This record gives sequence, structure tokens and C-alpha cells, in this order.
Amino acid sequence: MANVMLLFLSILAIINRTTLIVLAHEPSPLQDFCVADFKNPVRVNGFACLDQKQVTADNFLFRGLNIAGNTSNPLGVFVNRPTVLEIPGLNTLGISTVRVDYSPQGLVPPHRHPRATEILTVLEGTVLAGFITSDNGPENRLISKVLHKGDAFVFPFGLVHFQQNVGEENAVTIAFLSGQNPGVIPIANSVFGSDPPINSDVLAKAFKIDKSVVNKLRAPYK
Ligand SMILES: *[C@@H]1O[C@H](CO)[C@@H](O)[C@H](O)[C@H]1NC(C)=O
Repeated sequence: MANVMLLFLSILAIINRTTLIVLAHEPSPLQDFCVADFKNPVRVNGFACLDQKQVTADNFLFRGLNIAGNTSNPLGVFVNRPTVLEIPGLNTLGISTVRVDYSPQGLVPPHRHPRATEILTVLEGTVLAGFITSDNGPENRLISKVLHKGDAFVFPFGLVHFQQNVGEENAVTIAFLSGQNPGVIPIANSVFGSDPPINSDVLAKAFKIDKSVVNKLRAPYK
């Protein structure tokens, strides 16, 4: 009897855990689609649904991902990232896309998406891609690869990752993310560029650096 009870409790524990994991991510849709109605004042997790009769093909359309972005900026990259705000038909569907153009050495600096896993494919050029594991398990391990045209690489949910063009020519990647609005947290900008700024003592101690270096790190890219 005790064994049966134990089995029952274990199953319950497993079900409970599974449920928690499912709820932590975007849930399965409960209807064909729910095109975002930005004008609806109702606040839900995502956007309220537009009346189906008003839905048109344009709600599911985004154009221009074939167009190269302007990479004449300090990081040498251009990110074109249509989310649910640009494609209202993505609402509740748990997916979005991003095109990145890179000049040689162009860098997408270490960042994380709080609400998505990402799979990135190289369309042109040679790209170093990497992510860092969280510190439970193998501690802060870098997992990286030099990718060539046609290679795909996964950045697991929420982990810090980066991409750099390590080839001689321009590079282009396209990625898909498991969120309608994956969000982005650029590590350097969020820590050193917050508004209001984080106390210099905190940053100096956390990064084992002098306060003068903190000020240098706070300056914008140039
Ligand atoms: C690219 O951006 C730079 C810097 O903002 C600008 O000077 C240049 O005119 C842009 N090039 C094109 C083709 O738009």
C-alpha cells in the first residue's frame, strides 16, 4: 500500500513539474489564430484578438527580409527583427524571425532573449556563434562553433549568446525564435547602460575593476 501511495505521489510530482514547465512557456493556441488588436484596451498576456471578420492576409505578412541592412555603425551589424508588433498575426503563436547583416568583424554582442530559444542559419559568410551555459551544471561553459553558409546553430532558451562575422566578406544570418516577442537583454548595455545607472561600487566590485573603468564601460560604443 505504501508503495502504491509512493508511486502515486511520484506520478503526481512528475505531472506537476510537467505542468509548470508548459506554463513557463507560451501555451498552445486555443484557436486557429489571434491576430493582435493593438487598439483593444484589454490587457492579457499578449494582445487581445482582432475580430476574425476584420483579419486580412496582411496581418500575417512582413516584407523586406531580402534587403541588406546598413552596417555602417560601431558594431558593424544591422538587425531586422519583426516581432508581433510588426506582424500582428504572430500573437499567441510563440514564434518570430530575425535577419542580421554583418560587415567583416561585425558583432552582435553578448545578449539574451528572456522569452525564447533561437535557431540561427547562415545564409552568407562565416560566423562565429556561441552561448554560455548557466552556472548550475558545468559552470559557465562556452559552447561555440564557426558556422559556414547553410549551417544552423541553436541558442537555448534564455542563455547568453553572441555572433561575429569572422570571414572576409559580409555575412547574413536568419534566425527563428520561439516567442512572438522574445525580448533582448544586451548584457553590456543593461549592466553598464542602465537608467538610472547602477552604483559604481556595485559594478567595480562585481567586475573586479577600478571605478574609472566603470565610467569607460558606461560610454556608448564608438
Ligand atoms: C548607412 O548609415 C550611415 C551612418 O548612419 C550613413 O552615413 C549612410 O549614408 C548609410 N548608407 C546608406 C546606403 O543608406
